[in-house]
Amino acid sequence: MLKLENITKSFNGTTILNKLNVEVKDNSILSIVGPSGAGKTTLLRCIAGLDRPDSGKFILNGDTFDPADSTETERIIGIVFQDFNLFPHLTVMENVTLAPTMALKQSKEEAKENASGILKELELQTHVDQYPFELSGGQKQRCDCPSFSNEAANFVL
Ligand SMILES: Nc1ncnc2c1ncn2[C@@H]1O[C@H](COP(=O)(O)OP(=O)(O)OP(=O)(O)O)[C@@H](O)[C@H]1O
Ligand SMILES: [Mg+2]
Repeated sequence: MLKLENITKSFNGTTILNKLNVEVKDNSILSIVGPSGAGKTTLLRCIAGLDRPDSGKFILNGDTFDPADSTETERIIGIVFQDFNLFPHLTVMENVTLAPTMALKQSKEEAKENASGILKELELQTHVDQYPFELSGGQKQRCDCPSFSNEAANFVL
């Protein structure tokens, strides 16, 4: 379970997030809704470690962690962007193994083995050698997330 405790964030003296408390259970989906400027993106940026809150704690399964510490976060938090961020000149397998080999320093073989399992779960196993232009919208979307570990996939934002 991912828990946020008393997350506070201000910009130029204006408090955007004020002692926010949130719990996200494993394998659950949380939608964040609110008016424009309410702080939705700011919250996601803090959880993803792209910005730091002024105060507050992030707790994963009882352990406090710092989302802005990339060595920890790469294994905990994954981000699926609204737009597909697939490289058009790379196949499905090349796309999904790029981040694990570059960011997580996995060997190509290890990354391919991990990716094969996840791609199968996502019913993409017959598309591994295809390029993004050959995929349907949903296939592209699913192709965008298997570069995370199974653990991280529980907390895709
Ligand atoms: N880097 C920044 N510097 C100063 N102010 C910022 C910064 N980032 C966001 N803000 C301000 O914080 C507030 C919350 O912004 P945020 O982007 O989190 O809103 P949002 O809820 O995602 O809005 P929208 O629905 O329009 O995307 C806004 O008033 C915005 O102007
Ligand atoms: Mg926003």
